[in-house]
Amino acid sequence: MSPLSKDAPINIVGAGVFGLSTALHLARRGYRNVTVFDKQPYDTTLYSYLNGCDAASADMNKIIRSAYGSQVEYQELTFEAIEAWKAWNSELATGNDLPLGMSKDDKVFYNCGNLSMTDGNVLPAFELATIKTMEECGHKDTQLITTDARHASIAESRGQGFALDPFHRKSKGKSNLGVLDSTGGVAVADKACRLALHKARGHGAKFVLDPVAGAFASFIADVHGKTIGIKTKDGRTHEAALTIMACGGWTPSLLTRLDHLCETTAGSVILYKIPQHSPLFQRFSPEAFPTWLWKVRDGAKGGLYGFPRDEAGYLKIGYRGTKYTNPKPQADGKERSVPVTRWSEGEKLKQIPEQAMKVLKGFVAEYLPELKEEGIDVELSRVCWYTDTFDNHFVVDRVPGDEGLFVATGGSGHAFKYLPNIGNWVVDVLEGAGEERPAVKAWKWRSVGVETPVNLLMEGSAGERALANVRLAEETNAAGNRAKL
Ligand SMILES: Cc1cc2nc3c(=O)[nH]c(=O)nc-3n(C[C@H](O)[C@H](O)[C@H](O)COP(=O)(O)OP(=O)(O)OC[C@H]3O[C@@H](n4cnc5c(N)ncnc54)[C@H](O)[C@@H]3O)c2cc1C
Ligand SMILES: *[C@@H]1O[C@H](CO)[C@@H](O)[C@H](O)[C@H]1NC(C)=O
Ligand SMILES: *[C@@H]1O[C@H](CO)[C@@H](O)[C@H](O)[C@H]1NC(C)=O
Repeated sequence: MSPLSKDAPINIVGAGVFGLSTALHLARRGYRNVTVFDKQPYDTTLYSYLNGCDAASADMNKIIRSAYGSQVEYQELTFEAIEAWKAWNSELATGNDLPLGMSKDDKVFYNCGNLSMTDGNVLPAFELATIKTMEECGHKDTQLITTDARHASIAESRGQGFALDPFHRKSKGKSNLGVLDSTGGVAVADKACRLALHKARGHGAKFVLDPVAGAFASFIADVHGKTIGIKTKDGRTHEAALTIMACGGWTPSLLTRLDHLCETTAGSVILYKIPQHSPLFQRFSPEAFPTWLWKVRDGAKGGLYGFPRDEAGYLKIGYRGTKYTNPKPQADGKERSVPVTRWSEGEKLKQIPEQAMKVLKGFVAEYLPELKEEGIDVELSRVCWYTDTFDNHFVVDRVPGDEGLFVATGGSGHAFKYLPNIGNWVVDVLEGAGEERPAVKAWKWRSVGVETPVNLLMEGSAGERALANVRLAEETNAAGNRAKL
């Protein structure tokens, strides 16, 4: 494999976490001809779902946690990321060189903690593994058990006392067992993407963000089948020494060699809107409320997560207990799951599955009765498309047999937190540096081995998680109002 020169033209398709971070670090490390293509006009839609964006990265908030069970490679990758998140906050606070429309009061990371809750009376094995691994790695007292008095005083002393019992379970006489990852918190996702885009541009990366001129249409290849660039929807060709596919949930259908390695699956999200005058506005603020998980590894009846409200008052709660698919026949006759959202061309989806809504509403009734008391109901529901690999590890590698093609994808529900640093690792992989590192090894192009896969991929339209086979929740909210949008 010949090394890329710093002048070599490089195409990146996709300006989500993987594409943005890769562009930023390529440009920062001296690559002078990097162009990112995206079909989303992010300079005007500002990575906001409410403005028509439907990429995984384009969202109001995401969880940052370094708690990773026994997976030290991700734990340490998160510590590296958190340093960078804090540095980004400090840079913003100077007020210098801000992205358009952002101010020195903006933050992209709040260290409000990440609380993992169970409804049982013992801590799940995953959390126990995290505590053990953290201690072995010298990160003692970062994981705080809600029922431990010493831990409670540590949380208090760090100003995170609120995060041990955000649902006021104790005063209601209810059980409240969980672990707080005090290192974590919330990323303000849309603003963080805007900042990364701004920084990448500042280092010289070019962006073509346009539904036609920025939309990938096909690969162009030489006579040996090596990729030598891409064609966009406007018919123009863009030759490049290397093309990096980072199209999130769209990648598996655009690069079909990812069959059985990656598949796009949907999570379900509901938004409540807390009015500014409500006492809940303060209670759910990122200074007073953590990100949280509930029965996160308990199958279809669990798998909930949530956030502090954002600046507009949106309180977001998600369900990942069932990973839905949308298998559709493709040009080659095979079925592949493809994203469908409220903003898709053609077929659209505004609802979430009934099962998802049931678990979400059940949780809210038990843990957040205050919403009903205040007359606040679901404002909006949406699905959000992940790119799962069979083992939940990312894919960062050259496509076998094609020196001109590279992938950076397979976020598997946990890549957002690495926006500031994942691109640095992608560039290392491109340059062949640090190949012995466990994370880099885990991200190689691979196929299912003898071990049982974490995620069963490509079950197809007969699968019970296929959206065509599940009932959808009503589009209207419980008050009978048509959901907004
Ligand atoms: C509901 C939900 C919750 C999540 N929560 C968390 C969390 O709390 N913490 C965390 O760390 N991670 C979380 N994740 C995971 C994280 O969001 C993803 O791993 C990450 O954002 C993936 O980034 P990406 O670049 O792979 O894809 P995306 O963000 O989907 O970006 C892909 C880009 O490719 C573009 N594209 C697609 N097709 C084309 C085309 N033909 N031409 C041009 N451009 C194209 C799209 O417009 C898009 O901008 C969550 C994901 C979801 C869906
Ligand atoms: C970048 O690469 C493209 C495609 O090869 C080429 O047309 C363009 O001149 C290059 N730009 C610079 C600044 O080198
Ligand atoms: C933190 O959040 C993640 C989800 O992003 C979850 O899987 C994990 O168990 C949480 N751990 C702790 C201790 O908060």
